[in-house]
Amino acid sequence: MEAKSVNSSRTTITELMIPSFANFSGKVHGGTLLSLMDKVAYVCAAKHSGAYCVTVSVDGVEFRESVEVGELVSLAASINYVGNSSMIVGIRVESLKPKTGEVKHTNSCYFTMVAKNEDGSLMTVPELILESHVDIRRFHDAKKLKEKRKEITDLLHREFKDMTDKEISDNLRENRCIIALTSSNSVD
Ligand SMILES: CC(C)(COP(=O)(O)OP(=O)(O)OC[C@H]1O[C@@H](n2cnc3c(N)ncnc32)[C@H](O)[C@@H]1OP(=O)(O)O)[C@@H](O)C(=O)NCCC(=O)NCCS
Repeated sequence: MEAKSVNSSRTTITELMIPSFANFSGKVHGGTLLSLMDKVAYVCAAKHSGAYCVTVSVDGVEFRESVEVGELVSLAASINYVGNSSMIVGIRVESLKPKTGEVKHTNSCYFTMVAKNEDGSLMTVPELILESHVDIRRFHDAKKLKEKRKEITDLLHREFKDMTDKEISDNLRENRCIIALTSSNSVD
């Protein structure tokens, strides 16, 4: 399979924020923005792999600035890293107020997408050609992110499962919660 450059799958989507995207205070729902991020990540990953892709995980989604109805949200996506079947898509989200020209960088995040064959098995994606120092740095940083994400997944799925209810309750002592188990559910 022929290697592809970062530029060959670079994708930008711009969407007008319409009233039906907003909550009662006129700000756009976070879920609407998440859906747009998923869409641009899919397009970028599908262009690189030439295949059907699924979203596996999402990192770094933060809503630093609110987005309002009437603004133009642009989502710029590029492939930062490829593994065997996975691709990490970096997304920069900006919102423009057309009347003033003011641009807000609302957030940057990372979607891990996996390419699949027709039968649902994992597909090996093309290698990534890194043509600039920015491409190289992003590949490196995303590789580190993949390693850290694995640690977090392992932590969530394994480490806590091995703890007893008592150990967990002891760990929560200095926290702002009140453990109020009924006698039938009490921690021994
Ligand atoms: C994600 C999925 C393909 C993993 O399948 P699997 O049989 O466990 O395969 P593997 O463990 O070999 O993982 C495949 C790749 O995904 C990556 N991956 C798996 N879990 C991951 C996670 N939690 N975060 C990031 N990457 C992950 C692996 O690192 C691997 O990457 P590589 O091929 O580049 O080395 C499978 O769980 C799936 O299809 N999930 C449903 C995805 C979906 O439908 N999403 C839409 C939202 S409903």
